[in-house]
Formats: sequence, structure tokens, C-alpha cells
Amino acid sequence: MITGASQGLGLALAAHLAGSGWTIVADARDAARLGSAVAALPGGPHAAVPGDVTDSWHRGALAATAADLGGADLLVNNASTLGASPLPRLADLDPSAYLRTFEVNVVAPVALAGLLLPQLRERRGRIVNVTSDASVEPYETWGGYGSSKAALDHASRVLAAEEPNVAVYAVDPGDLRTEMHQAAFPGEDISDRPLPSSVAPRLLSLVLGDTASGRHVA
Ligand SMILES: NC(=O)c1ccc[n+]([C@@H]2O[C@H](COP(=O)([O-])OP(=O)(O)OC[C@H]3O[C@@H](n4cnc5c(N)ncnc54)[C@H](OP(=O)(O)O)[C@@H]3O)[C@@H](O)[C@H]2O)c1
Repeated sequence: MITGASQGLGLALAAHLAGSGWTIVADARDAARLGSAVAALPGGPHAAVPGDVTDSWHRGALAATAADLGGADLLVNNASTLGASPLPRLADLDPSAYLRTFEVNVVAPVALAGLLLPQLRERRGRIVNVTSDASVEPYETWGGYGSSKAALDHASRVLAAEEPNVAVYAVDPGDLRTEMHQAAFPGEDISDRPLPSSVAPRLLSLVLGDTASGRHVA
């Protein structure tokens, strides 16, 4: 299961896994874009489940879809929000936008993991929470997003301690040429950043091998 799999890193991970024989359960809010992306994946049949990760009914539908397909082996919590573009300084952060950032980037991934844990425990599965260098580096204007990713890092560590039968990773994929990255640097040329498809194989070999639970940089 990969959240935010209609474009960017999530789609690159889905394409790489689907090409290796995995069955994908994918979500994103824009149903048309998600449907086209999933229809173009190799192998299958795969499941496109449109919705917002902050919607508890939608999370239930994701977990039920995975169960119907035989159970989840891997959850990639990839869907995320920057909050606002351009990124504001902490003093200018709108509290409701900050709450929404935590809801999307921390509360929803932890809740989705909780729903899938019965399936993952049984299958000695893995959880990948996609984090960022902004969770550890104090970049100016990155405080809202960065503190949400820092919370996700810590939740990943606690989950790893609580769940001995499930590997739990927080993985920083590095800078990538995506819509989110462009929104973080509006008007700037980001063509020197690598495409997500160049990072996906390395990220997946890291989390599908014998790597210990913890925070890793892809
Ligand atoms: N790009 C970078 O340089 C970079 C660097 C470090 C970490 N990351 C992390 O990498 C991950 C992927 O980022 P990306 O750059 O690939 O982003 P992206 O290209 O903007 O794609 C984001 C994906 O998430 C979906 N999404 C966003 N909000 C959602 C929600 N509330 N519910 C369900 N789906 C949602 C989007 O589809 P809809 O809009 O249709 O929902 C889309 O499929 C994120 O966790 C990000 O924080 C990225």
C-alpha cells in the first residue's frame, strides 16, 4: 500500500514494485489522476482507492482493500503536505494550516499504520514513513513541515520499539524533481534535482533488505 501514489515519489515506488510483481493499493485525492496512474502500472490488477489520508472512512477502505487482496506486506506512508507555498517563517505560520500539516504528515500515517498492523504483524511486514532532511536541519521557513516530519520520525522509532514483528523505517529520499519540491521553490529551476524514478529502486532495496528499523537516508 502506497499513499500519494498518483505522481512523484509514490508513483515511482509503485511502478518499481509493480514491475517486480507486487500488487499495489494506491491512494491520492484526485481520482482521475490516480486512476490513470494506476491503470498504467505493469502487472496487476492493482487497486486505486481515491481519498484523503486524513479521512478515517477512507483509511478504513484502504485497509479493507488490502485485506481483500490477501493482506498487506508493506505500507509506504508517502502522501504529505508542505503546508503553504511559499513556505512561511514560523512566526507567520497560520495555526490552522499548521494543524492540517500535522494531520496529513503525522496523524494520518500513524492511524493508517495502526489499521494495517494486524495484517503486517501476521506477514512480518514493513512500514516506510517518508521523511525529509527538514526533520533534522533547521532550515529557515521549513519549521512547520520540518517539525511534522520530526514528529513522524519519532513516531516511527516508537512504533519500531512497540512492534517487534514489523520493520519500521523513516526514510529521507533526498531532494527530488516533483510538484511538491517545485512548490517549495516557486519560480526556481529545479531541473538539477533527480527524478523520483532514479531514487525509488535504492529506497526499496534499503527497506526490503535486512536493514534494521530506524531512520535512513536513501
Ligand atoms: N520532493 C522532494 O524533494 C522531497 C524531499 C524530501 C522528502 N519528500 C517527501 O516525499 C514524499 C513524496 O513527495 P513528492 O515530492 O513525490 O510529492 P508530490 O509529487 O507532490 O506527490 C504527492 C502525492 O501525494 C498525494 N497527496 C497529497 N496529499 C494527500 C492527502 N491528503 N491524501 C492522499 N493523498 C495525498 C498527491 O495526490 P493528490 O494531490 O491528488 O492527493 C500525490 O499523489 C512526501 O512525503 C514528501 O514529504 C520529498
